[in-house]
Amino acid sequence: MELSAATPQKIVVTGGAGFIGSHTVVALIEAGFEPIIVDDYSNSEPRVLEGLKTILGRDVTSFTIDCNDRAAMAEVFASGPIAGVIHFAAFKAVGESVEQPLKYYRNNLDSLLLLLELMPQFGVKNLVFSSSCTVYGQPEQLPVTESTPRLPAQSPYGNTKAICEDIIRDTVTAKTPVRAISLRYFNPIGAHPSALIGELPRGVPANLVPYLLQVAAGKRASLTVHGNDYNTPDGTAIRDYIHVMDLAEAHVSALKVLADADTDSFYDVYNIGTGRGASVLELINTFKEVTGIDLPYALGPRRPGDVEQIYADVTKSAQGLHFQTKRSLADALADAWRWQQTLS
Ligand code: WQD
Repeated sequence: MELSAATPQKIVVTGGAGFIGSHTVVALIEAGFEPIIVDDYSNSEPRVLEGLKTILGRDVTSFTIDCNDRAAMAEVFASGPIAGVIHFAAFKAVGESVEQPLKYYRNNLDSLLLLLELMPQFGVKNLVFSSSCTVYGQPEQLPVTESTPRLPAQSPYGNTKAICEDIIRDTVTAKTPVRAISLRYFNPIGAHPSALIGELPRGVPANLVPYLLQVAAGKRASLTVHGNDYNTPDGTAIRDYIHVMDLAEAHVSALKVLADADTDSFYDVYNIGTGRGASVLELINTFKEVTGIDLPYALGPRRPGDVEQIYADVTKSAQGLHFQTKRSLADALADAWRWQQTLS
């Protein structure tokens, strides 16, 4: 079945109530697709569906199931015809993966294996997989291209992403009728401009922007900058922060490329970032420019496992996906702050 945005092609979005998943649901509908959310809400909340309904002016079909549940997933595919799958559902807390590796290997690998078994049974050919720049570790050269060697993962979480990429590659090499693209995300931040959906961190946020937002909202006393002795212009670590709506739209671009693939078995990998690195201090300063808020922060020691700097070479995704980011770091921080204020 060829994908076309003209008639509403059904796209299964596993983890579709999550941070990146929910924003991708918006982008899919705006592109004329019909997303079907599959989520067990282990790391998201049903309120996301209300936010989506307000943004979209309509309900989105959703199934509250564990995407490791074979019978339940087969039912979803049977409700088709399904034109494609975007697979977000995975545990993604780096620290937790170090403490509970088997939980991560079991969940993150099994859910992909099940999809790859079910898709050919139901004639579903197109798969977009949520991967991560973490597979590069600390690259020798910057910016990283898709042919930059993957380094041994810094965490079991990161390893599950590398292993999943290899599982997809080998499945396609075996001529299984699957056309797949892995998107290696850099650092997704921000929220939908309506402030009706956004990131919902649980407990103490591990990631910089959600933590920074909670400090700005007065929920936490101060931000600790993990390391200012890196070999970077201001000594703090550099990342490629991409607006979550840009990242969401990259998934639509990937689906359209799969639609045009001229073989039944196809696999490719793309970096999805802005192509520009920003340091921790730059984020703090940009946040102040955008909101007027002077964040209290302290300089602390490096965080174990962190890479010094990584940002994407976006040439391939510009050429191969016809994808380019449209939103700035300031846009992302402004949208993130508007969302945080609704939480407070
Ligand atoms: C960014 C920078 C921190 C918190 C992680 C995962 C990666 C992906 C994105 C899933 C680093 C610094 C952070 C704080 C700080 N997740 N920092 N103070 O580590 O680049 O990537 O999230 O795919 O797989 O590894 O993102 O936001 O945690 O950190 O100084 O309170 O901010 O040291 O330099 P990271 P992050």
